[in-house]
Amino acid sequence: MTTAEFDEFATKYEKTMERSCAVSGESPDFYAMERAQWCSRRLRRWTPFDTVLDFGSGVGGSLKYFFDILGCKSVVAIDPSAESLQVAQERYPKLNVRFSVPEQFAPSANLPFAFCNGVFHHIPPDHRVEALRYVRSALSSDGIFAFWENNPWNPMVVYSMSLNEFDRKAQTLSPLRSLRLLKSAGFRIRFVDFCFFFPHFARGLRRLEPALRWLPLGAQYLVVASK
Ligand SMILES: C[S@@+](CC[C@H](N)C(=O)[O-])C[C@H]1O[C@@H](n2cnc3c(N)ncnc32)[C@H](O)[C@@H]1O
Repeated sequence: MTTAEFDEFATKYEKTMERSCAVSGESPDFYAMERAQWCSRRLRRWTPFDTVLDFGSGVGGSLKYFFDILGCKSVVAIDPSAESLQVAQERYPKLNVRFSVPEQFAPSANLPFAFCNGVFHHIPPDHRVEALRYVRSALSSDGIFAFWENNPWNPMVVYSMSLNEFDRKAQTLSPLRSLRLLKSAGFRIRFVDFCFFFPHFARGLRRLEPALRWLPLGAQYLVVASK
């Protein structure tokens, strides 16, 4: 998937994601909120963050939760798809968000927190380290990066992604590959968590998830890294 291709999906992104998330019985918004809740619990020793860089923010699925759950005061939303940024801006005209394509935002090593979700499987492998270096160069010396990816070791994820038109050319990243990439871009790995083990029908078991975070079978994983 080239970056311009995401423009084509901007207006139908949420609907497409709803279809693929339906495999689990949940909505994209449920996952966005849960990721923010997970970060809020697991990053407690570093929070609150004043500003967050949402790298590959797309149509802004996480934006409101940076404010409501993580207590951020402002967001820098970066995405090469100008159409997606436009949709996000129309969805949240009142939030304190600076929307920008990467070329128009010069990283200046002053942000305390960066976040990305489901972005790197859309970046061609030979551009990934460069993209990570861009994120790293936006962070202050004690900055923290929350890197979320889909886990190709979970068969439901592979199936769910196969339903997405915009995931057809995606190249998933195993947790090990992500760790190698982050390290080669200069990040220091703090910890890895696996999340989202149980679909909606088994939601009663979700209280076990914090205890299962070491098990590499959750639908997504979070790598927390520092600069
Ligand atoms: C699956 S969407 C995820 C959007 C959002 N992070 C979310 O959780 O809803 C992937 C996003 O990555 C963006 N993307 C693709 N290549 C990128 C790159 N090189 N740098 C930053 N973002 C990129 C796409 O434009 C798209 O908006």
